[in-house]
Amino acid sequence: MIIGTCKETAENEKRVALTPEGVKKLIEFGFDVQIEHGAGVASSYPDEQYKEFGAEIITGRDQVLEQCDFLLVVQPPDEESVNKMKSGAILIGLLWPLQNPEYVKLLQDKNITGMAMDTIPRISRAQSMDALSSMSNIAGYKAALLGANQLDRYLPMMMTAAGTITPAKILVLGAGVAGLQAIATAKRLGAVVEAYDIRPAVKEQVESLGAKFVEIEEVEDDDTETKSGYAKEQSKDKQEKQKEVTHNHVKKSDIVITTALIPGRPAPKLVTKEMIEDMSAGSVVVDIAAEQGGNCELTEPGETVYHNGIAIIGPLNLPSSLANHASKLYSKNMLSLIELLAKDGKPNFNFDDEIIVNATVTHNGELISPFVKENS
Ligand code: NAI
Repeated sequence: MIIGTCKETAENEKRVALTPEGVKKLIEFGFDVQIEHGAGVASSYPDEQYKEFGAEIITGRDQVLEQCDFLLVVQPPDEESVNKMKSGAILIGLLWPLQNPEYVKLLQDKNITGMAMDTIPRISRAQSMDALSSMSNIAGYKAALLGANQLDRYLPMMMTAAGTITPAKILVLGAGVAGLQAIATAKRLGAVVEAYDIRPAVKEQVESLGAKFVEIEEVEDDDTETKSGYAKEQSKDKQEKQKEVTHNHVKKSDIVITTALIPGRPAPKLVTKEMIEDMSAGSVVVDIAAEQGGNCELTEPGETVYHNGIAIIGPLNLPSSLANHASKLYSKNMLSLIELLAKDGKPNFNFDDEIIVNATVTHNGELISPFVKENS
């Protein structure tokens, strides 16, 4: 069977779904591998490297789309590309089926088996396939760097002949995978870091990274977590209490990094205009929830805006800004899924396996994934 990948077409997407190293593994599984000419160039993986590992470089994108039995992607290919794929082909990528029901319908209509990297259950056995974590890690790391770069102050304490500089204060709101990496990066850069998350289970992880956990008593006693470990939306009262405490911490911070998300919902608004107005001039907010609408009221996705001398950065697709390593990790995540699905070079849709069944959004024109069915 033929497995392959094309150049990503989404704006500002520099990642590639398969790296040259990944080609080697797929050939061992028994696949023939096709790569569209230049597919890895934006992430610093030239055609020659793919060739060295045994891939065939194809000049025309359509040829790859028409010939592949498995198409590996980062972001969902557009409708025109899906129309060119052969009936029964398998498309694997970050398909975001909960956010894109019309795309799911398209895959059903075209008889494409869509497998979403983002609906793989976050269980221990699936850790090596967890692209959400790989990509969030990168986003958290870059968020801390963007904040440091924008700030007109040092992050670490400096004792110089010209005087002593106190370390910068960084507040991280949301301490999931991205938030924890932002904390770790900010600590390495020498800042004093504190963090808050509605899931109290995170406190220990925050403290193990050397940051202080911001306590909000009333909220902590509440039921804030789903069975699968994700955050739940809070009641109005709890949100008000959280706002008050957040305000006190935001105004003392040089950098606020916000990463809070609730799956399937718009990002909760945690930082208000009033809070920003209480920050000192030159301070920075990096809102990496911008893609889901942002945690800060003033965020404009994809832009850096200024309010009273405070910069509010709303970056989009941070993993693409570290495209080489993002692709390397994503490709490894995909290979782990393919090893489970098709390690003999042929797919085996074992729907008794919770990973396979939840990742398989569409198959033979049917909607399969229980995770997608329950949450759409
Ligand atoms: P996420 O990206 O959905 O959300 C980021 C963070 O925002 C979460 O920690 C959430 O609690 C927090 N948040 C939501 N609303 C908030 C609010 N109003 N105020 C403050 N914080 C708020 O989460 P992510 O990073 O994808 O992971 C969440 C959880 O998923 C993990 O902590 C873990 O329980 C589970 N997980 C399990 C894995 C595994 O077992 N393989 C791997 C990764 C995550």
